[in-house]
Amino acid sequence: MVILLSAQGLNKHWYKEMVVYQIWPRSFCDGNGDGIGDLKGIISKLDYIKSLGVTAIWFSPLFKSPQKDYGYDVADYRDIAPEYGTLEEFKELLELAHSKGLKIIMDLVVNHSSDQHEWFKESRKSEDNPYHDYYFWRKGRKGGKKPPNNWLSSFPGPGWEYDEKLDKYYLHVFAVEQPDLNHDNPKVREEIKDILRFWLDLGVDGFREDVITYISKKDGLPNGFPLMPAARGIENYANGPRIHEFLSEYKNDVLKHYDCVTIGEAPMMRPKVALNYITEGPDQELNMMFHFQHMEADCLFIEWVRRPFNLRKLKKVFTNWQNKLYGKAWNALYIENHDHPRIISRYGSEKYRVESGKMLATMYICQRGTPFIYQGQEIGMTNLELPELEMYADVATQNTYKLFRKLGFKHDKIMDIAKTAARDNARSPVQWNDQKNAGFTTADKPWFYINKNYTEVNVEAAEKDENSLLHYYRKLLKLRKENPVIIYGDYKEHYKRSKTLYVYERNLNGKRLLTINSFTEKPVKFKAPKGFDLSKGELALSNYPVDNPGANEFITKPYETRTYLF
Ligand code: NOJ
Repeated sequence: MVILLSAQGLNKHWYKEMVVYQIWPRSFCDGNGDGIGDLKGIISKLDYIKSLGVTAIWFSPLFKSPQKDYGYDVADYRDIAPEYGTLEEFKELLELAHSKGLKIIMDLVVNHSSDQHEWFKESRKSEDNPYHDYYFWRKGRKGGKKPPNNWLSSFPGPGWEYDEKLDKYYLHVFAVEQPDLNHDNPKVREEIKDILRFWLDLGVDGFREDVITYISKKDGLPNGFPLMPAARGIENYANGPRIHEFLSEYKNDVLKHYDCVTIGEAPMMRPKVALNYITEGPDQELNMMFHFQHMEADCLFIEWVRRPFNLRKLKKVFTNWQNKLYGKAWNALYIENHDHPRIISRYGSEKYRVESGKMLATMYICQRGTPFIYQGQEIGMTNLELPELEMYADVATQNTYKLFRKLGFKHDKIMDIAKTAARDNARSPVQWNDQKNAGFTTADKPWFYINKNYTEVNVEAAEKDENSLLHYYRKLLKLRKENPVIIYGDYKEHYKRSKTLYVYERNLNGKRLLTINSFTEKPVKFKAPKGFDLSKGELALSNYPVDNPGANEFITKPYETRTYLF
């Protein structure tokens, strides 16, 4: 975590200049024909990944796992899931990636393990087992009939599971197969540090840390706010009492001794609190943070509670994070990952799929921070829209369905919501070509459904079309690489009150960038903000041919984006 001070006083660092491609391994590419994505498939696509202009790959969990939450339930932190390959293959992949100039970021999932992890199997054997206190085992209330407190899981349902043999309950703030690890126990912390060292010594370049802000639970595990229908009790473990102590320990004992990057995942995070973790300097605990606030512009906290898309809400969040972190900390920029439906289907338009995809890409990648791109985002994959409940593979979808039924929603209504809200939407196999199974697998059946639009939306078709979203991503990343103003410049928003346009500028040492992004198919009148003369700038990127790029007033086309450099 060395910070290099440049001549201009910018805190330059490789992680600030990096662009990350996220792979959700199960659906990326199947190399051995069993219908499931794997390391062999990833190796075969490394040149493609490199060709995008990214400089790092983040792998969603590759570890041995019963896959109840698709790898976020780890059964062995030091081994690769056999359906993905072997540790030897991983080492080969790591070496190959490094030889191509790609860094490798692993997913660190230590708020919980799988119930199939040896630690948990031991912990449930007896109260005096040395692993018992690796987890939160508690006696029930009311003579054992009721769970120890009223907490509920984030994947709707109970937060505790009863074990008959021990006559005790264990805590799981996610699926029942994901028991929470007890970081209050120093032995658990030593285990975590050993895991970090294991992967760092192997040569990986950092970690994306899964719900890392949840790892410290309030003493006594007090009851949560009773009205919460899911994640009840969260106020007792989000940014819990010992969180900074734990993260400092992981950093000081391990991470700071390696040249690595850390990105913490933090639901419900706000900039002010984030700064306690990511402010640069000797006490910095994490390099960046994945917050969720900008994913709430069309919903209330979670995608299942829908609201009409509100651009002003989106802009306010982005601008707030840009401003609050400026000069102090660094943003992680993303608009898609494996936990959210596809962005074009949400903030863009499936009708203007390519146009709106380009606009959304520009809108976030031109901000100050490190961009993350999720597999398939670069070709404009859209929501899957599965019609039947049985077709959904995600435990969170199944549990949310049950909760909504309990709350009185009709089946059809819930299925309607799931089509736009379920995480499954982002987890369909990557569409490589218009052949059988979209070129994802040679097996008869892929593990999951393929989006019907694969004949049109696929990598091969996008490669051939010079106006494709794929080529646009390449241009955009090249522009970012060649123009430090996009990486290190300051940020200023214009026309904040506009409900249709997102316009901002960036500035660095006299170099300026202005980006204009329309979030509507309707024509909107745009006028260059004060201080800008577009005829003096260079139109560096756009999603339509522009006849007169120097005109200081124009009417926007559907989802138009233009980026000028001065
Ligand atoms: C966040 C991960 O991104 C998500 O996929 C997972 O289900 C939960 N954490 C639990 O690990």
